[in-house]
Amino acid sequence: MEDLKALELGAIEEIGAVSTGEELEKLRVRLLGKKGDITSLMKGISKLPPDERPKAGAEFNKVKVSISSAIEKKSAAIKAQELSARLNDEIFDITISGKPYGPGHFHPSCDIMDEFIDIFVGLGFCVEEGPEVETDEYNFQRLNFPDDHPARDMQDTFYLQNGKRLLRTHTSTVQVHTMLKKKPPLAVIAPGRVYRLDSDITHSPVFHQVEGFLIDKNVTFAHLKGTLELFVHRLYGKNTKLRFRPSFFPFTEPSAEMDISCQLCGGKGCRLCKGTGWIEILGAGMIDPNVFKAVGYDPEEWTGFAFGCGIERVAMLKYSIDDIRLLFGNDKRFLSQF
Ligand code: DAH
Repeated sequence: MEDLKALELGAIEEIGAVSTGEELEKLRVRLLGKKGDITSLMKGISKLPPDERPKAGAEFNKVKVSISSAIEKKSAAIKAQELSARLNDEIFDITISGKPYGPGHFHPSCDIMDEFIDIFVGLGFCVEEGPEVETDEYNFQRLNFPDDHPARDMQDTFYLQNGKRLLRTHTSTVQVHTMLKKKPPLAVIAPGRVYRLDSDITHSPVFHQVEGFLIDKNVTFAHLKGTLELFVHRLYGKNTKLRFRPSFFPFTEPSAEMDISCQLCGGKGCRLCKGTGWIEILGAGMIDPNVFKAVGYDPEEWTGFAFGCGIERVAMLKYSIDDIRLLFGNDKRFLSQF
């Protein structure tokens, strides 16, 4: 009985000292479990004279009840403590100021593209699109590229399916698609992604072009010049000068490249324009009669001009960006400057 009293006192003290649910459970098993302290002490009852056993059994039960209730009380106290600690931890401090996220904006190339489209839509052009996966026929043949034209070379063109298809190298393909679908007169602007096997500071394997063309009766090179002059003055301001240089494209005759006065030095000559004062921004010309024939338009009846312009190039000039790859890197430190 003395041992039992000592066990009870010791147990109550230990229960009081426990601070976590886990410790308490271990202690419960040690005291009240099948192989626990009480059970082993209880084995001593059998050594008592028979008439003392019932009293001893009753004492054991009292102690068990008192230890159990001490454990329950402790358990409730620990749970309450854990809950209040959790509630304290989880409290949101609504007075802490938030992280600022500024509003996003369009990519500089998209902005230029939109401006481009707006200007031509304002002139009555409509927007057409074509597929990015093309055939040789639409990318080259119907645009009057001879079979041995170097542009078909693997150096330039991404071929797919063993050469059966290719990624369009220019948006001039949309001329063909539109002419096959619609009857003249036409005034069309065709923005889109194009692909070339090329990568350095001024070339990206994917970039954007805007193609424009106008087909009607008696269209002349003067209409082309007037349209492009208006476009350049809207995009770069009225003080920007432009000039045309003779050039060659298979799908236009005559063909030209158009330069604008350098935006950085105003035409005096600098690093950007390599001292010339001029910067090339697009190719253009009068649509070649062979292109009309390839889509079933009568070249004696219809005339037209066309032009094609790289969007990234325009963006680079406008914002003095010296590496085209920055426009495709999606680095927020770069993009957030616009
Ligand atoms: N397709 C040409 C290129 O990607 C650009 C071009 C030049 C388009 C002259 C035209 C044009 O419509 O008349 O380099």
